[in-house]
Amino acid sequence: MPNIVVVGAQWGDEGKGKVVDLMAGCFQAVARYNGGHNAGHTVLVGDERFVLHLLPSGILHEGVLCLLGNGVVIDPWALEREMEELTSRGVSVAELIVSDRAHVILPHHRVLDALAEEQRGARRLGTTGRGIGPAYEDKAARRGLRIGDLLRPLALGERLAEARRHAEQILRGAGRPLEIDWVDLERQLEEFGRRLGPRIGDVAAILNRQIARGYAVLFEGAQAALLDLDHGSYPYVTSSSAGVAGACLGTGVPPARIDGALGVVKAYTTRVGTGPLPTEIGGQAEEALRARGQEYGATTGRPRRCGWFDAAAVRYAALLNGFDTLALTKLDVLDELDEIRLGTGYTHAGRALRDFPSDATVLGECEPIYETLPGWKQSTLGVRAFSDLPPAAQRYVERVSELTGVAVGLISTGPEREHTIVRTGGAVAAWLGGLGGA
Ligand code: GDP
Ligand code: IMO
Ligand code: MG
Repeated sequence: MPNIVVVGAQWGDEGKGKVVDLMAGCFQAVARYNGGHNAGHTVLVGDERFVLHLLPSGILHEGVLCLLGNGVVIDPWALEREMEELTSRGVSVAELIVSDRAHVILPHHRVLDALAEEQRGARRLGTTGRGIGPAYEDKAARRGLRIGDLLRPLALGERLAEARRHAEQILRGAGRPLEIDWVDLERQLEEFGRRLGPRIGDVAAILNRQIARGYAVLFEGAQAALLDLDHGSYPYVTSSSAGVAGACLGTGVPPARIDGALGVVKAYTTRVGTGPLPTEIGGQAEEALRARGQEYGATTGRPRRCGWFDAAAVRYAALLNGFDTLALTKLDVLDELDEIRLGTGYTHAGRALRDFPSDATVLGECEPIYETLPGWKQSTLGVRAFSDLPPAAQRYVERVSELTGVAVGLISTGPEREHTIVRTGGAVAAWLGGLGGA
């Protein structure tokens, strides 16, 4: 049975939540492998709208095992809030397992996140302020607190003392007070341990056992290829491995067990936060696209910057992730445009670039090369068959595929589950068909 990784192939908010939710019913397990509650994955089910930050987007399907892998950073307060909210809306969270190796986001991580942003001044990253970066810093520096430590009072006290020493050192250096009641914090964390205890487990062992039994696992990436710590537009990135390799690192499932990778792309490009966005539109046209696409952050409510589809960026994402197929979302958002621009590549200092630049300053200086396609000027909202798309929309999809070198196996024509085209003969149809769900 196929084990598939779903990865954002731009700068986030491509519609991964919708795609994962759509596919989840055909899988036995859905695992998040990176990031934390900086993510915002929106899923519409009938009249109900769910925004999942930390929980896998499979949670809305009863009977699907949902897991948070070791690569995820977990704010226990945010986790419980999200679980409570879902429960109050009638969604069962009974089948949720949290890795004992996942790292904990503590209150001082948020303080340090804000301080770092403040100190960067004009060069700030525009983080979500959730403490993500400092939590991963502590992990890499080997002073992090892990979910499993919540079950071991002695370890918890020791780990917390080390975290405190470090946080206080930094804040003292910056002349800032740190108003945290560490005794109360330790008590609260012990209580989390008691409450979460039954669902804390060895995610690597569980997933590998499931796979050995022939169960299919869907790996849900948060953030995206261009926000990846190593391969993204550094330093304007998040602090985790968002790509396919992150699925292995962040769950403990070996590469040989991964059967496919699905890249999710919007029919245009968006980015929240600062950093280069070569195809950024600007002006009235960008405003109009933002309004039509409802491009406001699901986590922070910030307006998302909007750009034309950037094939150079998606080609790079495909190179890093080996996508078998793309899911192209929000095609309907382009319905009213007379003409649609597509970025086919970049020039820098007058020369065409072959490879995606590693330096964010260079990327910011790149000039996109555009081609212009005619719009289709009619509604595609809710279209469910490729042949029912207007010819110009079909052409647009095919051009995305040509320019990125990856087939488009799924097209999303609206936010709801039903607003979807699964292309016959494509990888997505094969995966879902193989699982008896197409
Ligand atoms: P994610 O972070 O990748 O899961 O994406 P977000 O949930 O942050 O942002 C995608 C937004 O677009 C959500 O509000 C979705 O409900 C919405 N959406 C997803 N697919 C479509 C689509 O095909 N058309 C339209 N109009 N909206 C969509
Ligand atoms: P989903 O999963 C879009 C961005 C932030 C900021 C940078 C670093 O919904 O696609 P962080 O708080 O992670 O240290 O912020 O990364 N960012 C996202 N942008 N979608 C996301 O998640 C994001 N998660 C983080 O805006 O620029
Ligand atoms: Mg999002």
